[in-house]
Amino acid sequence: MKNAVTFIGLMSGTSMDSIDTVAVTFSNKNLNLLGTHAHAIPDNVKANILTLCAPGLDNVQLLAETDHRLGELFAEASLALITQLNLSSKDIVAIGSHGQTIRHQPPGLKPGFSLQIGNPNQIAARTGCSVIADFRRKDMAYGGQGAPLVPAFHREIFHHPGKTRIIVNIGGISNITILEASGDCHGFDTGPGNILLDAWSKKHTNENYDNKGRWGATGSSSDALLTQLKTHNFFDRRGPKSTGREDFNLDWLEEQTRLFEIAPVDIQATLALYTAETIAQSIADLAPPIDEIFVCGGGIHNLDLIQKLNESLLKRMMPEIQSTAGIGLDPNWVEACAFAWLAKQRIDMQPGNVPAVTGASQQTILGCIYLP
Ligand SMILES: Nc1ncnc2c1ncn2[C@@H]1O[C@H](COP(=O)(O)OP(=O)(O)O)[C@@H](O)[C@H]1O
Ligand SMILES: [Mg+2]
Repeated sequence: MKNAVTFIGLMSGTSMDSIDTVAVTFSNKNLNLLGTHAHAIPDNVKANILTLCAPGLDNVQLLAETDHRLGELFAEASLALITQLNLSSKDIVAIGSHGQTIRHQPPGLKPGFSLQIGNPNQIAARTGCSVIADFRRKDMAYGGQGAPLVPAFHREIFHHPGKTRIIVNIGGISNITILEASGDCHGFDTGPGNILLDAWSKKHTNENYDNKGRWGATGSSSDALLTQLKTHNFFDRRGPKSTGREDFNLDWLEEQTRLFEIAPVDIQATLALYTAETIAQSIADLAPPIDEIFVCGGGIHNLDLIQKLNESLLKRMMPEIQSTAGIGLDPNWVEACAFAWLAKQRIDMQPGNVPAVTGASQQTILGCIYLP
C-alpha cells in the first residue's frame, strides 16, 4: 500500500477480560486491520486492579507495582502480535496504549481526574517501539470529561454523508457516538454495559461473564427492580457525561437488590433489561431521526442483552441494531483500533478529542510520546 503506516493499539477496558491488541495499517483515509491478539491478564493482576479501583482504598505500593506489571504485560501483548505478524519494531510507527483505568472522577463538584496505569516506558524499552499513552488527561486539563475518546475515531471511519448513524460500544461501560450526516459528532457514556452482568454472573455462577447471555435468558426480569435501578443519579446528569466502576459496581448492586426477594437468575435477566433500556433511552432522547444503529464491544456476544436492546429500541420506534462488521470493522477490535488511530493522530500532530463529546473547551492533541 502506498504511504501506508502501521500502528499498534492496546486496549484493556473496564471489563479486564483481556488486553486487546491490534496492528492497523492506515493509508490515506483507509484502515486495514492487519492482525489481532487477545493477551490474558493473570487473575492476581486482575485482583490487584480491582483493589486499586475501590474508592477510598489508596495503596501507593500496590499502585506502583501494578503499574510496572501491566507495563510488562502490555509489552508482552505487543511483542506477541509483532511476532505473529512477522513484523519487527522498525515496521511500527508507534504503539497507542490506553492503559488500565483505576480511577475516573469526572469534573464536577470536585476537580476531574482520570488515572490509567501500565508504565509506557517499559513498553517502549521492551518492544523498541515509540509508545503514545496518557490520552485522557489533556482533554481533562481543558475542562473535559476525558471520556469517551472513541467518537473521533468512529467519525473518521463510520461517518456516512447521507445518514445519521449511532455507534454503540458495549464494553464494561456503554457509550454512544452520534454521527450526523452533516459531519457533526457527539456522544457520551450511557451507563453500564457488561459491568453489572459480569459482576452478578461471577458472584452466582463463578463465570467471568454470562456466556452468550444464556443464563440471563432463562430468568424473568422484575419491573420493580428495574424501576429501582433506574433511580441511579447518573441518569439525571446531562451530557457531557462519563462513568465507571465508581458509579456501577457489585456493592451498589447488592445495596439495590437487598429489599427485593428475587432469584439471582431473575436479577441477571433484569440487569440485561436495565442495560438495554438505559442504552435505548439514551438514543431515544436524541432529537434527530436516526437511520442506522451499529454495535461494537464485547456486549454484542450477550444474545439476551442484544435481544432486549432490539426490543427496547423497537418500542421507541428506533431501527434494529447491526454489527460494525457490516461497515468494515470487527466489533471485537474497534476500541483497540481507536487507540492505534489516536496514536497516529498524536504523531501527525492532529487533535484526538471532540469537545462536543467531552465538554473540553477546545480540540487538542492527546497523548505523550515515550521513545524507546
Ligand atoms: N461470549 C460472550 N458472551 C457474553 N458476553 C461476552 C462474550 N464475550 C464477551 N462478552 C462480554 O464482553 C466483555 C468484554 O467486552 P469489551 O468490549 O472488551 O469491554 P472492555 O472495554 O470493558 O474490556 C466481557 O467482560 C463480557 O461481559
Ligand atoms: Mg476488554
